[in-house]
Amino acid sequence: MPRPVIGVFDSGFGGLTVLKGLLEVIPDAEYLYFGDTARLPYGSKSVETVARYACEAARFLEQQGAELLVIACNTATALALEQIRAAASVKVLGVIEPGAQRAAAASRSRRVVVIGTEATISSHAYQKALAALQIESLEKACPLLVPLVEEGWVEHAVTEQVAKLYLGEAFSDGFGSADVLLLGCTHYPLLKPILHRVVPENVRLVDSAESVALAVQNLVSAGTAEVSRLSKAPQQERIGAAHARFFVTDSVEKFRRLGARFLGQEIRDITHVDLKE
Ligand code: DGL
Repeated sequence: MPRPVIGVFDSGFGGLTVLKGLLEVIPDAEYLYFGDTARLPYGSKSVETVARYACEAARFLEQQGAELLVIACNTATALALEQIRAAASVKVLGVIEPGAQRAAAASRSRRVVVIGTEATISSHAYQKALAALQIESLEKACPLLVPLVEEGWVEHAVTEQVAKLYLGEAFSDGFGSADVLLLGCTHYPLLKPILHRVVPENVRLVDSAESVALAVQNLVSAGTAEVSRLSKAPQQERIGAAHARFFVTDSVEKFRRLGARFLGQEIRDITHVDLKE
């Protein structure tokens, strides 16, 4: 089968956890990753701003040859998926629907706690997606977790304390019977060890990064995505069996440094882009 060209969009670094998931399940695709590092975080911004930024990024990825767009950013998916779909002429997949489906399949008690950025939680996008699957949810914004992960404090006592405070509240007050914690933010997969320690023992963690990767895999293997061979541009970087190119709106150096922690491997082929509004 020809290799699909998959565009992955995020507000910055976190979407690399989604790319990591994609590389595991579709190692032979061509990837174009766009991180809007000059304009992050999206999690504290308004619907209008996030929608405008996300549509610009989607158009950019399409111009670069993306045949399928994965919106790795939970905030952009929650706030602007429909606008992005309207702006794009290729298929667009967000993280909310696959994450909600996986959480629903994993929950026996039909009660799920969802954590995410302020904007994702205020949109109630996860709550609506879960309610459509007959799952009751409690949503909790955890705004301090993104900066702690970007600081590299993924195994730090302070981060554990913060997570304990957020989740202690979430799993009490009538939601003690929740048996799934849905990680509704690109950064949270890096906190899995801490999150496991601070939630009740029977709680399963469902990762929206893994979930969307499996959804993309289904789509690609079903042949729904329009696929074609990408001409082998000489500057393309090989990551595992896949080719990947990275575009960022802020420092290439910083992306190289921080990005490696999210992707779990070195990143080389990075281009700085300036999106004109
Ligand atoms: N990528 C964002 C998300 O998944 C987190 C970082 C940000 O706020 O930009 O919601």
